[in-house]
Amino acid sequence: MLRNTDQRYGAVAIVLHWLMAVLLIALIVQGLYMTGLPDVGFNKQKILHILAHKEYGMLALGLAAIRLAWRLGNVLPVLVENLPDWQKVAARFVHLSFYGLMFALPISGWLMSSAVGIPVYVFGYRLPDLIAHDERLFQLFIDLHKWLSYALIGLIIVHAGAALRHHFFGRDDTLKKILPAERA
Ligand code: HEM
Repeated sequence: MLRNTDQRYGAVAIVLHWLMAVLLIALIVQGLYMTGLPDVGFNKQKILHILAHKEYGMLALGLAAIRLAWRLGNVLPVLVENLPDWQKVAARFVHLSFYGLMFALPISGWLMSSAVGIPVYVFGYRLPDLIAHDERLFQLFIDLHKWLSYALIGLIIVHAGAALRHHFFGRDDTLKKILPAERA
């Protein structure tokens, strides 16, 4: 079953969800690691990490666009029954914030690269700069990118924590809806 039903997510949404989860967590870990590497001299390791980070970050932007299109073209499975109103609101807020961050993070990275005048390449193709070279904006986008990534870390912890709580303590189908269907 490729498409969602009102009871569970379909195969496409499931693959996109877990692919994106792995990619985003890898980008966060790599981002935190590479910014901690020393700048002194020509640090080849740091430069290679930044190049890969930019390329995979742009890949995440492409996947986010596909994911948003798929979500808009599919029904959304209903939330489990008897969920208190505040949890329904919190769940929707977290999911919408994820979509916002999946776009805002790579775009802030792209703006950062444009502002410092270092182009972004994806599969060997040079992407256009979004803005002209500007040192002050470069510093601003570094900070923005950092705080957006901290917000993403916070959301991932809340989101994964809630899913595990539903699964192990609530014993409902919240997590199962986004896992491959069990064979009969
Ligand atoms: C969803 C995608 C992305 C995630 C989750 C992500 C995450 C991160 C994180 C956690 C950091 C470390 C922040 C810090 O502690 O200072 C970072 C740094 C960085 N990111 Fe990203 N990033 C993404 C996409 C991109 C893209 C698309 C680009 C560029 C095209 C980019 C360029 C950079 C650069 C240049 C740095 C180093 C900034 C510095 O020198 O302080 N990122 N990223």
